[in-house]
Amino acid sequence: MKTKNIHTDFGKEISDVDITNLDKEESAKIIELFEEYSLLIIKNQKITNDEQIKFSKIFGKLEITKPGTLGSNSNVVILTNIDEFGNVVSTSHKQSKNDRANQQWHSDSSFKIVPAQASILSGKKIPSQGGNTDFVSMRNVYENLKEDIKLKVDELKAVHHFAHSRSKIDEKMVSKEEYEKFPPVIQPMVKINPKNKKKALYFGSHTAYVKDLSKNESIGLLNYLLDFATKEKFIYSHEWEENDLLIWDNRAILHRGKSYNPEEPRYLVRTTVEDSFTRAEYLN
Ligand code: OGA
Ligand code: MN
Repeated sequence: MKTKNIHTDFGKEISDVDITNLDKEESAKIIELFEEYSLLIIKNQKITNDEQIKFSKIFGKLEITKPGTLGSNSNVVILTNIDEFGNVVSTSHKQSKNDRANQQWHSDSSFKIVPAQASILSGKKIPSQGGNTDFVSMRNVYENLKEDIKLKVDELKAVHHFAHSRSKIDEKMVSKEEYEKFPPVIQPMVKINPKNKKKALYFGSHTAYVKDLSKNESIGLLNYLLDFATKEKFIYSHEWEENDLLIWDNRAILHRGKSYNPEEPRYLVRTTVEDSFTRAEYLN
């Protein structure tokens, strides 16, 4: 197994490995790199969904895909603009809206009582231009915050709500079932990795507001932090090639999809590992 840097602050590309055929040392090495570098890119992994699921389990327990998402009730999320007949959907279609919702900076499943640890995303069909996925290391962002802001966010918690991120795309996008299944939850604004104690700023598109601040203070702080976190120098933008496999740590990474020609097909498959170390609190 060989590794190379992809950004000065985080991430590694791994080569000379076959994720369908890992020995114990290789699995351990991948987990070690994941904990340390937060984003891993493994090229040329032409895998089935079952192979992806099997590999993903080295990180922990997998999420069951929620209602309202392609792949519902299985261990995979299908991110695509192709419908069940093989046609590219129109921009008013739910799948296209889901795509646009993912184009807001976020951390996967931060709206859930058990949030996500790793996301593992396999690129199957890639548009000829655009459709990158952007990543920021929130450890690096936290490190670069001014001391007084660090002290402030250390003490703060925020309310995350699935309906909040979706309302920015379409007020009617969230079904009654999703609304009831995902009530607002309270998450810390700074996550501490249980193994290496590294701190990362934690918020994103699902963050509705910061607790115990006035509405204006909350909006001001979230805008300031998002502006700060998504400066060009902090971003690694991944230009997909078919059969790329990306693994990121949602406890330490903010990510977003980028737009592409909506007439071209795009198809990615995600598996998501639960963060078994943390549990949010319900708001009510
Ligand atoms: C995801 C996601 C963005 C993209 O898979 O969790 O946000 O580029 N993807 O499709
Ligand atoms: Mn995502």
